Amino acid sequence: MDIRTLFGIVHPIIQAPMAGVQGSALAIAVSNAGGLGSLPCAMLAPEAMGRELEALRAGTAKPFNVNFFCHETPVPSAEREAAWRAALAPYFAQFGIDAATIPAGPGRIPLSAEAADVLERFRPAVVSFHFGLPSPSLLARVKSWGSKVLSSATTVEEATWLEAHGVDAVIAQGAEAGGHRGMFLTDDLTTQMGTLALVPQVVRAVKVPVIAAGGIADRAGVEAALALGAAGVQVGTAFMLCPEATTSAIHRRALASAAARHTALTNLFTGRPARGIVNRLMRELGPMSDRAPAFPLATAGIAPIRAKAEASGSGDFSPLWSGQNAEGCLEIPAAEVIRRLAGTR
Ligand SMILES: Cc1cc2nc3c(=O)[nH]c(=O)nc-3n(C[C@H](O)[C@H](O)[C@H](O)COP(=O)(O)O)c2cc1C
Repeated sequence: MDIRTLFGIVHPIIQAPMAGVQGSALAIAVSNAGGLGSLPCAMLAPEAMGRELEALRAGTAKPFNVNFFCHETPVPSAEREAAWRAALAPYFAQFGIDAATIPAGPGRIPLSAEAADVLERFRPAVVSFHFGLPSPSLLARVKSWGSKVLSSATTVEEATWLEAHGVDAVIAQGAEAGGHRGMFLTDDLTTQMGTLALVPQVVRAVKVPVIAAGGIADRAGVEAALALGAAGVQVGTAFMLCPEATTSAIHRRALASAAARHTALTNLFTGRPARGIVNRLMRELGPMSDRAPAFPLATAGIAPIRAKAEASGSGDFSPLWSGQNAEGCLEIPAAEVIRRLAGTR
């Protein structure tokens, strides 16, 4: 099925939901330009999410996507937290931070029944998930409103699992992609393959439309994905310098510099592997470390170090999420990014 018909959009291009670097403004601009704009909710409590959805509804009459993480909230382990704080101790000392005063707390929120109550008022055309799918009852609620459901697969096994559990389309997330790996059936990074290898294998394995994600930054990338059998693309990094994004000045500087050519998968910032520009913390403690607490609990210990460093203009301790291809990441309006990707300019 053509995803333009499935979602009611002009171009088969989804703006990837990107928690922490965008809100409703980017989604509105993309949907109004004929793509599918997305609102990430992983860092929004239900009340803030409701405000963003009001803004989206006021800003566009076009379809949009609302995105949720669906991880299990882990039981904190005092032992692991202590090991993590010990690993971070030199940085606490450097910045004069009293580790005893750092509040614990989740850095990312999964879809909850309370969030679903808010979402029900808006009944978005599309709801997408990362890290699998929510509980069968929450998924059934979302589907009962007529929302089309998407989720990311990083392996052929995850794609067939998602199809068997009722998604309307699968996002094949290649290893080039910025931000968190959507992996949920395995935590073995050696299973992760590039977009060029993953997309055709997923296309052969499932009947639902496949949306290619990871490393797509220009029209040639879109055409390559379509040639591999994808029904559309999901693009993230290329939107991060748009004026409608909320990407921080430090993050923007890194994306626009040669440093963006060196990214790695790291679990240091949240506890799950995610791709970001290599910085001091990744060089010194990782990029992968078995000392990091379970997702999303690693976030709390880093937060005060990051805040101190950012206050002096440094991204040494910030998650500088980026895909491997930041070439399409330009300071241009989101509608212009859509025109370039669609080949209509
Ligand atoms: C800054 C950033 C934040 C992201 N946050 C999310 C998110 O909240 N939810 C999600 O499903 N995917 C998220 N992703 C992953 C994207 O959905 C997508 O897989 C990725 O951006 C595609 O690769 P590209 O960045 O090379 O275009 C994020 C990606 C980036 C770069």
